Amino acid sequence: MLKLVVLISGNGSNLQAIIDAIASGFVPAKITGVLSNKADAYGLHRAQQASIPNAHIDHRQFNDREEFDRVMIAQIDQWQADIVVLAGFMRILTPSFVNHFQDRLINIHPSLLPEYKGLHTHKRALEDKRTSHGCSVHSVTAELDDGPIIAQAITPIFPHDTEETLANRVHLCEHFLYPQVLKGLATQEIKIQDNSVYYELKPLHQPIRYVAQLDFEVDT
Ligand code: GRF
Repeated sequence: MLKLVVLISGNGSNLQAIIDAIASGFVPAKITGVLSNKADAYGLHRAQQASIPNAHIDHRQFNDREEFDRVMIAQIDQWQADIVVLAGFMRILTPSFVNHFQDRLINIHPSLLPEYKGLHTHKRALEDKRTSHGCSVHSVTAELDDGPIIAQAITPIFPHDTEETLANRVHLCEHFLYPQVLKGLATQEIKIQDNSVYYELKPLHQPIRYVAQLDFEVDT
C-alpha cells in the first residue's frame, strides 16, 4: 500500500478530498502522517478526525530554512513516505529537501501551469481576460511551481466570474484532480523517475487533462 505524507498550512480541503478518496476505496493508499507548519491549521483537525498521525513544526522556531527542512525530513522519513503530497503548504522548500524526496514529491497549484506560477492566480487570469483556467499537479523540482506536470483539470471562465467564484470552482477541480493522480501513482499507472513522468510506462509528453463538469456544487 502506497504511503502518503501530506503537508499543509491551512484549511486542508485537498487533504479532506484525499482522505475521502481513500476511505471510499478510490485511491488504494494510506496517509501515514499529516504535517503542518501552523499549529492552528484546520487540516490538522481533519487529520485528527480521521485518526491520522499528525504533527506541527513551527518554521519560526528555526534560524533558517535548512534547519527547518531538516527537521521536517526527519519527521516525514519516520512516517516512511513513499509520496510526499504538498496540499496548500505555504513554505518555500530548500533544494536539500526537494533532492531528498526527488521523484516522491508532488504539489497542486491553482493554475494551468506553466501559466501563472506564484500567488493570486485567479485574479491574474481574470485580469488577462482568459477564457479558461484550472489547476495542475506536478512533480516538484527546486524551482517554484516548476517540474514536470502530471495532470491538469480545466474549467471555463465565465463573464460573470469574480475572483471568489472562480477560486471556488478551481478548488473543486483540485479536489477532483489530486485523487486521480494519487490513484495513478498507487496503481503505478503513473510513475515518476529521474524527474520525468511516465504514464503506462511511456514518457508523458503532455499533462493528463480533465475538463471539469460544470454542474458540480460549490462547497465553501
Ligand atoms: C489550494 O488552492 C492549492 O492549490 C494551493 O493552496 C490551496 C490549499 O487549499 N497550493 P486547501 O488548504 O487544500 O483547502
